[in-house]
Amino acid sequence: MLVDTTVFITGATSGIGRSCAEAFARAGARLLLCGRRADRLAKLAATLDTEVHVFGLDVQDRDAVSAAVEGLDPDWAGIDVLVSNAGLAAGLAPLHEGDPEDWDRMIDTNVKGLLYVTRAVVPGMVTRGRGHVINIGSIAGHETYPNGAVYCASKAAVDRITQGLRLDTLGSGVRVSTVDPGMVETEFSVVRFHGDAERAEQVYQDLDPLTPDDVAEAVVWVADRPSHVQVAQVVLLPSDQASATRFARRG
Ligand SMILES: NC(=O)c1ccc[n+]([C@@H]2O[C@H](COP(=O)([O-])OP(=O)(O)OC[C@H]3O[C@@H](n4cnc5c(N)ncnc54)[C@H](OP(=O)(O)O)[C@@H]3O)[C@@H](O)[C@H]2O)c1
Repeated sequence: MLVDTTVFITGATSGIGRSCAEAFARAGARLLLCGRRADRLAKLAATLDTEVHVFGLDVQDRDAVSAAVEGLDPDWAGIDVLVSNAGLAAGLAPLHEGDPEDWDRMIDTNVKGLLYVTRAVVPGMVTRGRGHVINIGSIAGHETYPNGAVYCASKAAVDRITQGLRLDTLGSGVRVSTVDPGMVETEFSVVRFHGDAERAEQVYQDLDPLTPDDVAEAVVWVADRPSHVQVAQVVLLPSDQASATRFARRG
């Protein structure tokens, strides 16, 4: 059912977004891919066996987001599926000692960036009477973990925005879903620890995290349900994780 559908994925340069691009390409979709590291997007596009249009975009930049979507060639403007994946955690510190620059990056990307993309893309879906928004949330949006209050708050906001969009588009033909993973091994922790790869590696030590392909498989499944089926939320955990704070480490 995804053959020739137009799928727009934010944050496709790495991790879950990149795996989603590969999985949707295998399903026959045509892809609009963005992220800030445009060089990576060009390399990824060359490996995908489908029609792909890539563009560098920082979702924190509201004007750039609306210009990018408004400026799409008519052949690309009919977005069928939006995967709002671009996001990050920055820092891991008690709230009263946290770095406000980290807070700004998380809120500006995970919350405001997702809103800007939603605002740019969803009106076209409503006009066409069909579309599917799949937001990448997190188990962190369901529970707060120590030293992660702002990231968890940003993902709780994604959960509420998803619910709100589902209510506001009811009856329009637009479906709204979230896929909320637990621990996935990507560049996420390297970004969180500001490039400290050794510290990032420790996050995944002695357990089997999800892979970005595991999450992409769920996202494609959500997108590929018949049009009368709206998957509200998928929560996907590694078998070694029971909650945002409980892990089985075998070290
Ligand atoms: N890894 C986990 O354990 C986990 C668990 C639950 C949820 N998530 C969520 O999954 C999503 C993807 O994360 P990931 O684990 O795949 O991490 P990742 O490997 O670091 O990928 C993050 C992606 O987001 C993009 N991005 C970040 N800031 C952006 C911006 N301002 N504008 C445009 N693109 C931006 C990055 O591209 P550029 O840097 O090139 O812009 C990159 O493509 C995030 O929303 C994250 O919160 C991750």
